[in-house]
Amino acid sequence: DTRPFQVAIDGPAASGKSTTAKMVAQRLGFDYIDTGAFYRCVTLAALSKGIDPSKPSQASQISNLAQSSQIGLKTVFSNSSSSLPTTRVFLDKKDVSSDIRTETVSKHVSAVAAIGPVREAVLQKVRDMGATSASTSQESNSGRAGLVMDGRDIGTVVLPNADLKIFLVADSRVRAERRLQELAKSGRKEEGLDLETVQKDLERRDELDRTREASPLRKADDAVELDTSHLTIEGQVDAIVQEVYRRQKAASSSTSSQ
Ligand code: CDP
Ligand code: CDP
Repeated sequence: DTRPFQVAIDGPAASGKSTTAKMVAQRLGFDYIDTGAFYRCVTLAALSKGIDPSKPSQASQISNLAQSSQIGLKTVFSNSSSSLPTTRVFLDKKDVSSDIRTETVSKHVSAVAAIGPVREAVLQKVRDMGATSASTSQESNSGRAGLVMDGRDIGTVVLPNADLKIFLVADSRVRAERRLQELAKSGRKEEGLDLETVQKDLERRDELDRTREASPLRKADDAVELDTSHLTIEGQVDAIVQEVYRRQKAASSSTSSQ
């Protein structure tokens, strides 16, 4: 079986998906794809064209943008397991890594991600990227080829046959504190933004993501749920890495006994 080992990580906003996914990928020598970045890029593209994503009449224009936008990701891993890998995001060749993380983009992204044709366009791009990244990582890490992808519908729609599916959850207050701290640390906190506002926005976004018609946020039946409210990042990364080893071992002993 030469298929790369697939890890799907889903969960609500700021539950720790991207941090955990990146560190798991670094520990295992796997590739990493942040699917939320695709929806953020489409949102940024719409906003910078003066389109208001909250107006349903704009859906077809946004869908066209989703199709025509060229989105690229580049993750730089480090040799030290304790330092966090960084992912650069490119929209039509321009580095938008910071621009897509503002609270303004966050506020509009769920409306954009609820548009069916936008999801279809993104799904195609994500699958293409997954196919190419898996083949290159296989060449560079013989025998350790794998892919970690994070988002909302990875275990249910994007990688329904993933070898390991994780559903991360955390208390919304804890998630808001983490998100605010993250924005402040990176200098992206907008003037006057407080904890209450961030928490309300996370909850509103989760509600939109859970109740939308097109591939809503949902724990896959075969996903392992992990509550990170009281876990350290190292703790949650370790739990997932151990589970990957356990499943790889189980898979290889079942093939060798055939
Ligand atoms: O980092 P954070 O959890 O705030 O958001 P993200 O992962 O960057 O995703 C931003 C938004 O994109 C989510 O709120 C969803 O509306 C949407 N999204 C999605 O619908 N499906 C995915 N696979 C990933 C993100
Ligand atoms: O991708 P998602 O929006 O789910 O979460 P994230 O961007 O990884 O952000 C979660 C934030 O919580 C990051 O600043 C992490 O350092 C922090 N954090 C965590 O993920 N897990 C913990 N146990 C503690 C803090």
